[in-house]
Amino acid sequence: MKKIRKAVIPAAGLGTRVLPATKAMPKEMLTIVDKPAIQYIVEEAAASGIEDVLIITNRGKGLLEDHFDRAPELEERLAADPGKAAVLEAVRNISRLCNVWYVRQKETKGLGHAVNCARSFVGGEPFAVLYGDDVIIGEDPACAQLIRAYEKYGLGVAGVKEVSAEAIRKYSSLKVQPLEGGCMRCTDMVEKPGPGEEFSLYSILGRCILPPEIFDILDSTPPGFGGEIQLTDAMKALAREKGMIAVDFTGKRYDMGSKLGVMQANVEVALGHPEIGEAFREYLRGLAGSI
Ligand code: UTP
Repeated sequence: MKKIRKAVIPAAGLGTRVLPATKAMPKEMLTIVDKPAIQYIVEEAAASGIEDVLIITNRGKGLLEDHFDRAPELEERLAADPGKAAVLEAVRNISRLCNVWYVRQKETKGLGHAVNCARSFVGGEPFAVLYGDDVIIGEDPACAQLIRAYEKYGLGVAGVKEVSAEAIRKYSSLKVQPLEGGCMRCTDMVEKPGPGEEFSLYSILGRCILPPEIFDILDSTPPGFGGEIQLTDAMKALAREKGMIAVDFTGKRYDMGSKLGVMQANVEVALGHPEIGEAFREYLRGLAGSI
């Protein structure tokens, strides 16, 4: 079985739900305390053993590229100040995480279309997809949990969580049967099900492992919901033809594509932050008393 060495991060969406913040800046650069969302995601990929990451971009490409590049002038300035050693290390480590590559999605035609832009980067290998606006924080990297399921079952893998009956209307719903250790067999799925159309409350949230055959499926996937090429539609064909594995991953997922998700991520990460955690807790206590 081929090892998973490559990951694709689609980051070319318009981010209309978090406008106007995303007018000139990709939503993947929105910060959680002191790091942009995309850094948490690349860190997760690197911690899962991924060596090469392809970021699918369109506008704001410069910002993303600069973030994962060296910053010689800044590093020189920080190196001259002994008090800045820790921040210098943090800045340098970003460019050492893994090899980061970029390709542009020329038209914003949906998540499936964005993933299809990765065909020549991926070649004939299975690969991981980490959605650029889904940050997952936990002890065991979510991507690594999916890779282990791929290594065990040799099938495409979808990272899932149970969502509320209300939320399932906005997401996908998977037909699953339990296996073991948080894994389920998935044989069908439906995107944004209407009342009564859902298979279960398990929904794909932000991570999957796909075999290279997904590209031929994507080529023949017609535009779906919203007139966009939906990755879920291609995964549905894969699940029906070959079967997939759904992994109920551990870790907390934050939707950085929504204003509420951005605030939840910032508050929760700030509370556990080594530098500001204590002061922020005090601040929140005071604030809570007044609301
Ligand atoms: P979303 O479904 O949240 O789409 O994308 P969006 O257009 O960015 O968001 P809204 O609804 O307008 O607020 C899920 C992930 O897929 C990427 C996004 O950048 C995000 O990381 N994406 C989406 C692309 O790369 N290309 C696309 O055409 C669409």
